[in-house]
Amino acid sequence: MPRRARPCRKVFVTRTIDSAALERIRAAAAVTVWRDEMPPPASALRAALANADAVLSMITDKIDARVIADAPRLRVISNLGVGVDNIDLDAATRAGIAVGHTPGVLTEATADLAFGLLMATARRIAEADRHVRAGKWRTWGPMMMLGHDVYSSTLGIIGFGAIGQAMARRAMGFGMRVLYLKHPSSKRITRREDSRPAGAVAVTLPRLLAESDYVSIHVPLTAKTRHMIGAREFAMMKPGAILINTARGAVVDQAAMVAALKSRRLGGAGLDVTDPEPIAHRDPLLRLDNVVITPHIGSASIATRARMAAVAADNILAVLSGRVPRWCANPRVRLRPFTDAT
Ligand code: DGY
Repeated sequence: MPRRARPCRKVFVTRTIDSAALERIRAAAAVTVWRDEMPPPASALRAALANADAVLSMITDKIDARVIADAPRLRVISNLGVGVDNIDLDAATRAGIAVGHTPGVLTEATADLAFGLLMATARRIAEADRHVRAGKWRTWGPMMMLGHDVYSSTLGIIGFGAIGQAMARRAMGFGMRVLYLKHPSSKRITRREDSRPAGAVAVTLPRLLAESDYVSIHVPLTAKTRHMIGAREFAMMKPGAILINTARGAVVDQAAMVAALKSRRLGGAGLDVTDPEPIAHRDPLLRLDNVVITPHIGSASIATRARMAAVAADNILAVLSGRVPRWCANPRVRLRPFTDAT
């Protein structure tokens, strides 16, 4: 009796990624890669997913309930990133689609960038570079380009997951005192949390804001964390404190941040994320010298992006062979059956 041909699984990859990871997926499925520098427009994404078993998506791909409804054979959305706020998780779970992500492998790179932004903002590194390039460096001056000490100052970390803790380790190496808020919804400080990790102190949000010279945000964007730092919180901060955000732009109310920066209530901001992204060319933030902005490059080291691609590939391969991925943002999902049409 002739053997039935194995159905060919189809995977759509929404941008060029590390080639080793891509080859591993190619060995198991027919892969289409969107090669443009810009993300696929919504219509192209929907057309590609209408016929795909898996998508390896980026944080720039909006995969909402409508896209999911139009993707009848999709079984896994494997996001290249730890954040999954670009995906409607509930709609995916209801449809039996696993949502993979890449925690862990980007922790250190993201904390490196967060600490780099802290240093750059405190010591006005980007502003000083602009000064030199503009031909304004005329002499050494005793009052020229004065910034703020990092050593012996206090860092408040909002969100004490893996990246928040990696930030704490860096700060301690610089002789900083570290306060943290474990999670924005934490109302109470328990004894166990009160001194973790060695030397870092768990506090309430008001205390963190009042005592920190630097505040660094490390929470995911959810309905609860959207705009969790707004006018009220800026008013509670130590005058002249510096805000660092490498999480998601919308965790901060950006209009309130601009007002706080302009009034110098907020001494500076180091931002890897904005709301929206990319930031509009005319955004008032771009006219403020006490702001350093990078284009969402927290995890952008060569080795980290290769590791992220490897994990994203693993997440796809797991689902293609019938398992829920190890790094799954909706682990309770009941995977929908394969559609064997080719
Ligand atoms: C993430 O992983 O969510 C970052 O924002 C992109 O690396």
